[in-house]
Amino acid sequence: MEKADLDFANLDFKYRKVDGNIRYFFKNGQWDNGTLHEEETVDLHIASTCLHYGQNCFEGMKVFETKDGSVVCFRPEENYLRLKKSAEKILMEPVPKEVFFDALERVVKANKRFIPPYGTSASLYIRPILLGISPHIGLSRSEDYLFMMMVTPVGPYFKGGFKPVKMLVAEDLDRAAPYGLGDIKAAGNYAAGLRGAYRAKSTGFTDVIYLDCIHRKFIDESGPANFIGILKDGTFVTPYSGSILPSITNMTLRTIAENEFGWKVEQRPVDINEISNFAEAGCCGTAAIITPVGSIRYRDKDYNFYNEGKDAGPKITALYEHLYKLQYGEIEDKYNWLYKIDVK
Ligand code: PLP
Ligand code: COI
Repeated sequence: MEKADLDFANLDFKYRKVDGNIRYFFKNGQWDNGTLHEEETVDLHIASTCLHYGQNCFEGMKVFETKDGSVVCFRPEENYLRLKKSAEKILMEPVPKEVFFDALERVVKANKRFIPPYGTSASLYIRPILLGISPHIGLSRSEDYLFMMMVTPVGPYFKGGFKPVKMLVAEDLDRAAPYGLGDIKAAGNYAAGLRGAYRAKSTGFTDVIYLDCIHRKFIDESGPANFIGILKDGTFVTPYSGSILPSITNMTLRTIAENEFGWKVEQRPVDINEISNFAEAGCCGTAAIITPVGSIRYRDKDYNFYNEGKDAGPKITALYEHLYKLQYGEIEDKYNWLYKIDVK
């Protein structure tokens, strides 16, 4: 397969122009058959509900070239289900499963030159986007929708890849409320997260960790990723909260930790004061993969994890390596997580 002229082994998480995207319209109560487009811009009515009232949700998935040369998407069924949940919660028209998978197959095939070769540790990032496009100036839901899938080849989200990052607890900022939209992938949640991300970056941190909005003491998540911790007794803990995104990577890691490694796994409210009892910590997500967290600053005190926060600990490393091998087809896909795409 002839590849695009890119330094695939050194990609960061940035948009790069590819060969095309795919778009489907829902009009008069039905979805069309979708068309591939080369252009990168979208024509929208100026009064579209996605522009004014945030009827806009999306997903993030990755496609990998495996050791045997196959092309696979990691757990897209889960992303399809989460997009459905997001759409329903903000009264949008859910995308039918056939449309979602038709889009995935066609857009990946149309951009096969951009699938990073096996061995480069990169992937093709897939972004499904659903927009309300009917013109309404009063607050109301759209009748018509646009579903698109764009792709772009990427490396790790956090600079440096699998290296410990420094997190800042932002006690005075919230990203999502308990009975709001934190558990879905609504675009507005990311606007709410920008202040935190900028504060972190401008003060020498990688990103922030949000606390729950009611008690302000339980860990929620980071802006772009879920949080995981390894207690000193080896237990894998991750927050349970109504205002965080149920991460597919986190769900995968819980299965690996419990079933493959035989570790104790707990998904429960995690008090921020428990960080003094952590041996290791990390962030996980499709873009973030697994990123070791070396230290957390909370109320002017730095809590360092494995080796003074300088290295990734053994358990976070084991999880990372197992996930890596699974996604690149180096070990058996015993849970059927890899969705094969025929790009010939
Ligand atoms: N939390 C937030 C806020 C996210 O945007 C993401 C990314 O999608 C995640 C967590 C990780 O979820 P997943 O592992 O499904 O990508
Ligand atoms: C993903 O991990 O796929 C996301 O959508 C998070 C985003 C902030 C890059």
